[in-house]
Amino acid sequence: MDDWRPKTQQVRGGHERTAFGETAEGIFLTSGYVYESAEEAAAVFSGDSEGYIYTRYGNPTISVFEERLRLLDGAEACRATASGMAAVFAAVACDTSAGDRIVASRSLFGSTVAVLGRLLARWGIETTFVDGRDLKSWERALERSPKLVYLETPSNPMLELVDIAAVSELAHGAGARVIVDNVFATPVLQRPLELGADIVVYSTTKHLDGQGRTLGGAVLGPAEFIHGPLQEFQRHTGPSMSPFNAWVVAKSLETLDLRVREQSRSAAALASFLGEAPGVLRVLYPTADEHPQVELARRQMEAGGSMVSVEIDGGRDEAFGFMNRLRLFDISNNLGDAKSLSTHPATTTHSRLTPQERQAMGISDALVRLSVGLEDLLDLKADLAGALGL
Ligand SMILES: Cc1ncc(COP(=O)(O)O)c(C=O)c1O
Repeated sequence: MDDWRPKTQQVRGGHERTAFGETAEGIFLTSGYVYESAEEAAAVFSGDSEGYIYTRYGNPTISVFEERLRLLDGAEACRATASGMAAVFAAVACDTSAGDRIVASRSLFGSTVAVLGRLLARWGIETTFVDGRDLKSWERALERSPKLVYLETPSNPMLELVDIAAVSELAHGAGARVIVDNVFATPVLQRPLELGADIVVYSTTKHLDGQGRTLGGAVLGPAEFIHGPLQEFQRHTGPSMSPFNAWVVAKSLETLDLRVREQSRSAAALASFLGEAPGVLRVLYPTADEHPQVELARRQMEAGGSMVSVEIDGGRDEAFGFMNRLRLFDISNNLGDAKSLSTHPATTTHSRLTPQERQAMGISDALVRLSVGLEDLLDLKADLAGALGL
């Protein structure tokens, strides 16, 4: 399976048929497992025999999903989690202790800021936030030898980029492990491990499910980390993916390449349409000519992705008016769905941040985030034009 190309792996990876010879992957919706004898149970628990123990520890359907995603990311190991935030928290918390330092890019999903900046701070783990675009800021912050470097690229919702290869090199020089949130790009458009990162985290709730049904997450990286501290942390703290959700996402991975590339093509076309549209002050899209990091985007990503953010001319009222006039783009805080969605980050996904934190990230009241789905591009364009009164 390791020799297959990604498009084959996403359809076939991790699938071992049972004796029934089913075409599609089976669902093992079971919390526990039975043993032939007490001796066998003892052997499985001690690790002398292979076998599933309990679905909080592992499950055959979850294993199919984990193996499929592992192959797509080119990782040594993968572990599924109950949500994207469970993945972020477990990846960071499983091998940090009081007194450790983290350096993170400032432009992050709101709950990640809360975990790094507030929750972990209560346990004596200090995070320094830097401008992720600026290598000099990374260099300065890395002088004090952190344990971890954490970054999200492209970032939610400002679509700022971090140079994964350059930051990984600096971080490794300082002895830190690098964790990348690859939610916006997906393994189709960006492979952080090949660029030098150590660990990748996903919210599978987004493009990996792609049809807005299940909550889930995943952590990928070296086997010693995933089967060591991460597995230990997750087994005891309990944020495991449900086998049903694992089945849904494993099946969704079969169409990931097709969906993400199509959504990305439409998003790029809409970004260029919005760039010319009256009523729009600024368009943020990684591979657009106007993006200040376009050269990095083209080097690090295969395409710009499905997310476009726009600053509407005006403030919150004008942004709300634009969203309320959209008929096809539903108002929702989710993203990566086949259905196009619009979000006002300042009052939803990033509303728990302080106004100062939002300002530091550049999230204004006029900002609207668009998640471009799989509808006909002409209908999407007409919807945006209608909402802008064109
Ligand atoms: C970039 C990013 N990372 C992590 C998460 C958290 O994922 P979940 O909602 O599955 O916990 C999100 C959710 O929006 C996100 O956008």
